[in-house]
Amino acid sequence: MKREIVKYGAKVLTEKAAPVTAFDEELNQLVADMFETMYDAPGVGLAAPQVGVSRRLFIMDCSKEKNRQFVFINPEILSTEGTQTGDEGCLSFPGIYFDVERAARVIVRAQNARGEWFESDFLDLEARCVLHEYDHLEGDLFIEKASRLRRELVKRKIQRLKREGKW
Ligand code: NI
Repeated sequence: MKREIVKYGAKVLTEKAAPVTAFDEELNQLVADMFETMYDAPGVGLAAPQVGVSRRLFIMDCSKEKNRQFVFINPEILSTEGTQTGDEGCLSFPGIYFDVERAARVIVRAQNARGEWFESDFLDLEARCVLHEYDHLEGDLFIEKASRLRRELVKRKIQRLKREGKW
């Protein structure tokens, strides 16, 4: 079942999420719902706080064919390497995109939906996505990575959209 994506301004987006402790049917349902919500949006990554659940979980699928799904539960960033700069968006900031500098490579350790630990290495867009979604679990939003000028412009635009009832 598709869930509602919470937008910037919601408190849950700036809170540090709590670890996932129960690998049960409820968790499986949450993961399934998050994939449905992300593909429908459409987006390439989605963190649990973005559907109002303050837990350390995010999903990703950066493929065109929608056949490269990853589930990261209680993730840890083990290392990062290099840099990349590219246009970035966030489903909690609809219609807002700007350049963000990220590491070009990331190695992550996380649990899957069965609670099994895995370690994996991601590059380019997937590395960008992992780092963006991981930040959501810390309550950190990509807008904080924008220049001060860009950040002010974006916040002003959002305030205008809020006044117009479009946010
Ligand atoms: Ni995001």
